[in-house]
Amino acid sequence: MFESKSGIFYIAGIGFFVLAFVSNALVPWLMYNDIPEKTVAELINPNLRYQFEDLARRYPEAFEAAYGKPPGGDAEHDVWWNEKCGDALRVGHKIYVGEGCWHCHSQFIRPVSNEEQRWGPVSRSAEYQNELQRPVLFGTRRVGPDLCREGGRRSNDWHAVHFFKPDSLSQESPMPEYPWFFDGSADKPNAKGLAIMTYVQWLGSWQESYPYYEAYVQSALPKPESVEADAEAAEGEEDAAEEGMAEDAEPAVETPAGDAAPADDMPASDTPAAEAAPAAETPAAEGAAPAEATPTEAPK
Ligand code: HEC
Repeated sequence: MFESKSGIFYIAGIGFFVLAFVSNALVPWLMYNDIPEKTVAELINPNLRYQFEDLARRYPEAFEAAYGKPPGGDAEHDVWWNEKCGDALRVGHKIYVGEGCWHCHSQFIRPVSNEEQRWGPVSRSAEYQNELQRPVLFGTRRVGPDLCREGGRRSNDWHAVHFFKPDSLSQESPMPEYPWFFDGSADKPNAKGLAIMTYVQWLGSWQESYPYYEAYVQSALPKPESVEADAEAAEGEEDAAEEGMAEDAEPAVETPAGDAAPADDMPASDTPAAEAAPAAETPAAEGAAPAEATPTEAPK
């Protein structure tokens, strides 16, 4: 058998099959078999609860129609919110799968290409050991930005407007409109709209902190000794910032970070992520992603 080439390929073929089976099936199974898979109830955290209650504050009628009214007593109160939040997550997850959001969005920050500077900490396998990652939603294409650190990055009303009409916030966005998440207008999300927003706000909410928020706060507060220099720099930049605001759909978030982070008077070691992250976010939101996806639509 070993005398002929085909015999060698035959043995090698079987060998590689066994290797693939061991590395892709056996090893993962042995690694994760004993780690319990988290249920939806275990996935609810304070960050998510904050966003879910925010939906109730912003859209009281829609919220009541979808989930009813919270009970009075404190103990029941908490249980009720967690339960409804869990329901919303499950439905939101189904919508995410059903609408094919994963065709265009990944949920996996790779340890390459400085992805952590663009989107936040690299994904860890434990993050996928839960009910809402069945099927696992890594995604294979990135027409839009990665979403696994999306929670808390945008407000609920931003998401509502974006789902209703993506290109009203992001020029020439190829993301489809989802009018069926709403009862006619962006300020009237229905049960589907509330659920998908809850789901999107959950993504990454398990992180101890949101990198972009840290970045924003730290760079927005200049150090005492550099206040004077900042004021001078800011004066010059004000005009430029105002011009930028006209085109920028969400200046409130991006501009202050940009203003207050003059690279030269901050020590290099001072939160590199802080300065890199906000700047890097903008293109993703504003159209870099569409351009990647559809090269013919490159910015004019
Ligand atoms: C045809 C591809 C496509 C599909 C399908 C799609 N998106 Fe998008 N999405 C994009 C692109 C491109 C962007 C970036 C431009 C923009 O903000 O609209 C984006 C942006 C987003 C953002 C904003 C990210 C940020 O913070 O800037 C969210 C959230 C989002 N999509 C969620 C979803 C969800 C949920 C679904 C399914 C209901 C979905 N997308 C379906 C392409 C898509």
